[in-house]
Amino acid sequence: MSPLNGARMLGLGVYRPARVVTNDEIAQRVDTSDEWVRSRTGIATRRIADEEETTVAMGAAAAEKALAAAGLTADTIDLVIGATCTSPSQIPGAGPQIAHRIGAGQAGAFDINGACAGFSYAVSTAADMVRAGSVRHVLVVATERLSDYTDWDDRGTCILLADGAGATVIGAAETDEIGPAVWGHDGSRPEVIRVPGYGDNMFRMEGQAVFRWAISLVPTVRQICERAGVAPDELAGIVPHQANLRIVEALAAGIGATNAAVARDVVDSGNTSAASIPLGLARLLDTGVIRRGDPVLLFGFGAGLTYCGQVVRCP
Ligand code: COA
Repeated sequence: MSPLNGARMLGLGVYRPARVVTNDEIAQRVDTSDEWVRSRTGIATRRIADEEETTVAMGAAAAEKALAAAGLTADTIDLVIGATCTSPSQIPGAGPQIAHRIGAGQAGAFDINGACAGFSYAVSTAADMVRAGSVRHVLVVATERLSDYTDWDDRGTCILLADGAGATVIGAAETDEIGPAVWGHDGSRPEVIRVPGYGDNMFRMEGQAVFRWAISLVPTVRQICERAGVAPDELAGIVPHQANLRIVEALAAGIGATNAAVARDVVDSGNTSAASIPLGLARLLDTGVIRRGDPVLLFGFGAGLTYCGQVVRCP
């Protein structure tokens, strides 16, 4: 038997809050319209969590589904990584609380705050730990409650932000199914996307600057394919962070992913930060346009200005 030197996603699970908020509902509070929001962002609706749907509760629900999909129980998990920038408290993080809630009593637990790139950073970290042999199974849980940081009177941001969670179990495999990560940052521009704190605990953003920066990442996305040894036209799917439909489509078109199904979950789910990639991936799998084993490009980008992506084989 071959040694298990590779890593792969063994299962995926997501949680979408029950409450759907339309653009018309937002337009009752701020000066905007369904037509404006759809044409500038592609967003038609978003999910907003209720009081019970905390970052931890949503993450645990997604984690349990990922475990079930992987055919594993919580006691086989060695490590839980929370990928979140909206932990219910600064201290402690969400990871240990999620691990406790699902009964992963043997697991280590911590958070990665890579903002909207958090899921890809966590997947890369988990895969490297599995390949190194220091853990058998890692649960990566991306969970966000951006509504806690939304200024519902700021029409430039409240139209975008949303809540939700997605999780995957990463374990050992004979063949490596998680490609090398390509990542980077521009930490010289913290003001472009931020939650300032010190009297203003709301999400603030320079929309046009973010838009221009995101579109400029096309060569980086190409590099992810090169490092994985997969040509863009060989991709079955592409799941960029679901920030804005125009950005998603520009990135997919820019690299020439001509045969790939493009995740457009942002249309129904809004921008859920780190959770948006697993939510988008799950939507593509659920609709049957991609299948287990297909090569799919994941690419997160956001505050910091951090980015990270990899090509993975679908769970
Ligand atoms: N409805 C109606 N008008 C709006 C509006 C809204 N929801 N939001 C902004 N506007 C107005 C502005 O006030 C401005 O009006 P003015 O010309 O009278 O001053 C005008 O629209 C243009 O503003 P601007 O910010 O330049 O709009 P835009 O075309 O850049 O669209 C975003 C704004 C936020 C939709 C867009 O910049 C965007 O999507 N950026 C990327 C954001 C993103 O993806 N962030 C997450 C990254 S992780």
